[in-house]
Amino acid sequence: MQKTILSVLNNSEKPKTLPIWLMRQAGRYLPEYKKVRTQAGNFLNLCYTPELACEVTLQPIRKYAFDASILFADILLIPDALGQKVWFVEGEGPRLEPISSPDELTLDNLSQHMKPVYQTVSLLSERLPKETTLIGFAGSPWTVATYMIAGRGTPNQAPAHALKHNDAHAFQGIMDVIVEATINYLAAQVEHGAEVLQLFDSWAGSLNGDDFDRFCIAPNKAIINGLRAKGITTPIIGFPRGAKNRYVDFAVETGVQALSIDQDIALSSVIADLPDTVVSQGNLDPLCLIDGGQDMFSKVDEIIEVTKDRRHIFNLGHGITQYTPPQNVSAMVSYIRNKG
Ligand code: CP3
Repeated sequence: MQKTILSVLNNSEKPKTLPIWLMRQAGRYLPEYKKVRTQAGNFLNLCYTPELACEVTLQPIRKYAFDASILFADILLIPDALGQKVWFVEGEGPRLEPISSPDELTLDNLSQHMKPVYQTVSLLSERLPKETTLIGFAGSPWTVATYMIAGRGTPNQAPAHALKHNDAHAFQGIMDVIVEATINYLAAQVEHGAEVLQLFDSWAGSLNGDDFDRFCIAPNKAIINGLRAKGITTPIIGFPRGAKNRYVDFAVETGVQALSIDQDIALSSVIADLPDTVVSQGNLDPLCLIDGGQDMFSKVDEIIEVTKDRRHIFNLGHGITQYTPPQNVSAMVSYIRNKG
């Protein structure tokens, strides 16, 4: 059997079956995840324990036979590796000791720090079914910087916007360190067996006008160029969540092979201007998986109809929520696979 996700990204033809995976497919909506998560004690421990991280990555593959598996890790492992203090508060989310200058970071320990993550990638590449594509990932610089500067998730990323405005030099310095770290991190994931890479720019939507070009497009492009300069030809999926009317600019200017699209924009409006050399991905509202049923199937049908003449990877517009009943995921996957 061939790897459908790898082949949809590498070949210009539309595959006979629609490839499927879901952002955050390993996580708290799965009882088997919660069990391993408890065993690990805390979230970072789970990310840095290869046997456990490998196990939770494999859980959704066993259950749903998705066409791709995404490495179990987190975008905030990069600040941790750069020497910033990172922890997760149960039921609340990430906390970091806020930084305001690149002088507080060091690239010296990156490779050593990330060794367990690379070991997880190696284990996965041995243990995954041969038809399952292994996706590695990282956060994009702006998104990672918003957490590093604020010290937590924020509704509008105001602390990062403030540093960008008040000390443009320090802000750019932080972005540059993240770019360099991310190139090395993703190159090592490929070396250990990642077959596709996804860049998550979850907070791209708060960058407007020139800021979108400078702090979303440019750093994502710098990472991609950095990887290509190392001779790495691995397909890359970009996800500038909330990019609105800049989605196509992002895809064309960064040179991504695929574009992941959130649920707040009409898929047809993005696809209308997206070159057919770029694969589309995503757009299903994660909330429709909570209720499931006819409303979910109708939304699925709509995505299939809109993308019938192009290469598309079925996915959500953002991560699956912890409130999703696992049987709705099964129902959705069977529905799509039974369609052809
Ligand atoms: O997709 C996958 O299955 C792979 C694993 C993955 C996780 N986080 C695991 C995780 C991936 C790809 C991420 C990316 C990530 N992490 C992003 C970008 C995508 C997005 O969702 O916008 C961001 C912004 C983060 C940072 C982060 N990690 C936050 C804000 C939180 C807290 C919110 C939450 O859902 O709890 C996390 C924690 C986290 N990362 C969990 C998981 C499974 C839940 C933690 C737990 O199990 O206790």
